[in-house]
Amino acid sequence: MKNILITGGAGFIGSHLVRHFVGKYPDYRIVNLDALTYAGNLENLRDVETAPNYTFEKGDILDAALLARLFEKYRFEGVIHLAAESHVDRSITDPLAFVRTNVLGTVTLLHAAKTAWTGQFEGKRFYHVSTDEVYGSLGDEGFFTEETRYDPRSPYSASKASSDHFVRAYFHTYGLPVVLSNCSNNYGPNHFPEKLIPLVISNIRHEKPLPVYGDGLYTRDWLWVKDHASAIDAVFHRGRDGETYNIGGNNEWTNIALVEKLCDIMDELLGRPPGASRQLITFVKDRPGHDRRYAIDASKIREELGWLPSIRAEEGFRETARWYLDNEEWLLHVRSGAYQAYYDAQYGAH
Ligand code: NAD
Ligand code: DAU
Repeated sequence: MKNILITGGAGFIGSHLVRHFVGKYPDYRIVNLDALTYAGNLENLRDVETAPNYTFEKGDILDAALLARLFEKYRFEGVIHLAAESHVDRSITDPLAFVRTNVLGTVTLLHAAKTAWTGQFEGKRFYHVSTDEVYGSLGDEGFFTEETRYDPRSPYSASKASSDHFVRAYFHTYGLPVVLSNCSNNYGPNHFPEKLIPLVISNIRHEKPLPVYGDGLYTRDWLWVKDHASAIDAVFHRGRDGETYNIGGNNEWTNIALVEKLCDIMDELLGRPPGASRQLITFVKDRPGHDRRYAIDASKIREELGWLPSIRAEEGFRETARWYLDNEEWLLHVRSGAYQAYYDAQYGAH
């Protein structure tokens, strides 16, 4: 059995990735290391927690002694690193938390892998999952390519940019076999409701105001989260050492157009009169340093690895809205904080 460490596997993207790997690769043991911060939710993984090739380890990537013990215990052949502080608005109020986990945590993990693998880099892989936000902000035209100059503008993107630089430094300085990807905005089930799409869906459901920052003309390129998982699979198995792959949905929406689309889908699903939920849209104070537009040129991963997004926007948004309506309990537990008791209930006795 090949042991693979996934960090941040209890979060939004991490939980989809864990499910994808556990289901598709029965000959891998997937070890999910997660600190279970407010964003980590083991209820996301209820359906895989008893799989014979899945193990959960609660812990912090900043804990070097724990990492050394885990590398010793499992003899990992690969690491897929997603653990991070991920919300831009939180990074504006608490930048140091982002430096700790995203920068120091990533370097601690890199160092643990290098130490454990020294003299045996052959067949090993350290995969760092990053964001398109490191490239900064686009005007009306153009796309981010893998050659776009880094220009991070929020504490979150600055911390992710810094972590990317450290990953490349470990490749160039020590020869650690690394690969990176920089992805656009994900959406889908299990998305924490501080982020735009789940927040809007939940507020429509409960007829609360839908906060749109500034003029609402900020643009994001939205990718179905399960397509991100399949892209990570492709890069992990077939990407080239030292390379970076941009991942995107080729699916640009201004925030206001997206919120209107979600209103219309929800009205239809809830049997409300057409246009009803649009009345809830409320323009609010802008995010400081708000990046105007992100858009990914994903031709490298398409041409080198044959990866393409699988579903169309309309279908993905509808499926997401339906998931939130069908999983009110998940949302309720997140809102009440009850999901944080799940670990004790599930693992406390062990
Ligand atoms: P998330 O906030 O939903 O999940 C992060 C997970 O990391 C949580 O389970 C949390 O408990 C865990 N974690 C946080 N700090 C930790 C620590 N110190 N030690 C161990 N675990 C810790 O994030 P997400 O949206 O799933 O993003 C996952 C990764 O993908 C991040 O690295 C993020 O930068 C990147 N990314 C996200 C998006 C997106 O649209 N969400 C797009 C591109 C890249
Ligand atoms: O591009 C990839 C990034 O996408 C990831 O690296 C981040 O981890 C992820 O959080 C996401 O960042 P954004 O800042 O783009 O996502 P968010 O959902 O916070 O906001 C999307 C857009 O909607 C952005 O322009 C801000 C706006 N917005 C957001 C919220 C929460 C609003 O207008 N109102 C809101 O209430």
